[in-house]
Amino acid sequence: MSAPVDATATQSWKQLTALAEGFTPDLRAWFAQDPGRVDRFTHTAADLRVDLSKGLVDEGVLAALLDLAEAVGVARRRDAMLSGEHINVTEDRAVLHTALRLPAGARLSVDGQDAVADVHEVLGRIYDFAERVRSGAWTGTTGKRIRTVVNIGIGGSDLGPVMAYEALAPFRHPEIECRFISNIDPTDAALTLQGLDPETTLFIVASKTFGTLETLTNARLCRAWLLEQLGDAVDQKDAVAKHFVAVSTNLEKVAAFGIDPSNAFGFWDWVGGRYSVDSAIGTALAIAIGPEGFADFLAGFHAMDEHFRTAPPAENVPLLMGLLNVWYVNFLDAHTHAVLPYSQLLHRFPAYLQQLTMESNGKGVRWDGTPVTTGTGEIFWGEPGTNGQHAFYQLIHQGTRLIPADFIAFANPAYALKDDAAGADVDVHELFLANFFAQTKALAFGKTADEVRAEAPDQSDAIVAARTFTGNRPTTSIMAPALTPSVLGQLIALYEHITFVQGVVWGIDSFDQWGVELGKQLALQVSPAVGGDAEAIAGQDPSTRALIEYYRAHRK
Ligand code: F6P
Repeated sequence: MSAPVDATATQSWKQLTALAEGFTPDLRAWFAQDPGRVDRFTHTAADLRVDLSKGLVDEGVLAALLDLAEAVGVARRRDAMLSGEHINVTEDRAVLHTALRLPAGARLSVDGQDAVADVHEVLGRIYDFAERVRSGAWTGTTGKRIRTVVNIGIGGSDLGPVMAYEALAPFRHPEIECRFISNIDPTDAALTLQGLDPETTLFIVASKTFGTLETLTNARLCRAWLLEQLGDAVDQKDAVAKHFVAVSTNLEKVAAFGIDPSNAFGFWDWVGGRYSVDSAIGTALAIAIGPEGFADFLAGFHAMDEHFRTAPPAENVPLLMGLLNVWYVNFLDAHTHAVLPYSQLLHRFPAYLQQLTMESNGKGVRWDGTPVTTGTGEIFWGEPGTNGQHAFYQLIHQGTRLIPADFIAFANPAYALKDDAAGADVDVHELFLANFFAQTKALAFGKTADEVRAEAPDQSDAIVAARTFTGNRPTTSIMAPALTPSVLGQLIALYEHITFVQGVVWGIDSFDQWGVELGKQLALQVSPAVGGDAEAIAGQDPSTRALIEYYRAHRK
């Protein structure tokens, strides 16, 4: 793998630096003087309409950003990824989550193996299994059909499935509920298992490595719960076989845990954990929305992959959004990025994106081991509208920080409800969307002191200042006809590729996650001290020792 191009040494970076110095964005004036702005800055990617026109970007900036993409070789690296080159250099792996959504019959060999055939072989087994659970053909050890599926996983083995399960609520099987256990806090397992009938509960142990402490601990807790609840009347081996399946790249460890490998669904080391919801890790989702829904979900990802692969740079939405983020972070000093879905169904989408973006691009060295040459990795955060409006939007509107925000909304609601207040029969979705449109307007165009004064001329200067909005706060508006499995797949793939683009500009390996290792290692080391081992306690630094002593003094 060749060394990354240092983006900051390119001509386009210098040009962007110069543009940023004299940059005085004025969205009011830009829109007033340029009626074509919306059309020029709005693009279509599969079913998504993406409006960048309320961003702090003009033609000059855009041209320089596209030059930058060219200079650092985004397209070259994209093609290297799509063709299975080992672009995850620190783990010496291909990066091929895009292969998970290639249609059957497509050709892609990974390290000499027909990846597409492998993917579809596993998909066929998942679909068959999902159908059996959905139809009631798969029964528990006492012959009853499954009513609850509990997914045990963490990180990418949890966030994707739970986010998609929530997002696609209207598409779920009406009589099968999925629950999710991730945290090693025993409260998570205790509360999730509360009220469940062991005879009708199926556990999916989802772990890419099958070595994750949290997941294996929770899996053992659930196995013990199941066997205890079922009692002596049942055969324990049969109970585990009928109530536990596994998803992993490590089928040997699955067998060692006691799960029959014929009840295991595999995937491959070329799928990163945070890129795996469309692999067997999505088995709980496949049960919930059925094979057809899952196939539609995959088709959505693939449509966005094709857009990313083939759309010209100036119309390539993931490329443009990734570059815009670079502009905001590296030239306009943004540190965070808000994601604000105007869809309650997407309430876990920001949390999902936190792992995708921050585990991918939160790095301080480049893929050749040299230090990064500029800031990397924004903090992603958000809550669904309108909840966020009544909580943190104040800071986005009037605070001193620049917070680029992505607004996401759908023309059609999942549930169309009318409010007959005062006999007006108001479509509540319209009220909801009015809030989305109003917020992006307010952020872009603000409210001048003169406009504030015009509303009530006798206000003091202090009140006028407090009620003034600067505007010029950048937003991107993403809309689609409705939140279907396909559209959800498109949205996820969009953010995967945005993350990729930023990683390439910064020269980092977006597909490893060494930063999570030290804490895991130390947790194992600290564990004996927490358990009371005097020598281990003495070996701690003073602060950690005092914390452990506090714990030991107060634990009942
Ligand atoms: O510790 C971080 C991480 O490796 C994530 O990247 C991953 O999604 C998560 O842990 C869970 O890993 P696994 O699926 O192997 O249990």
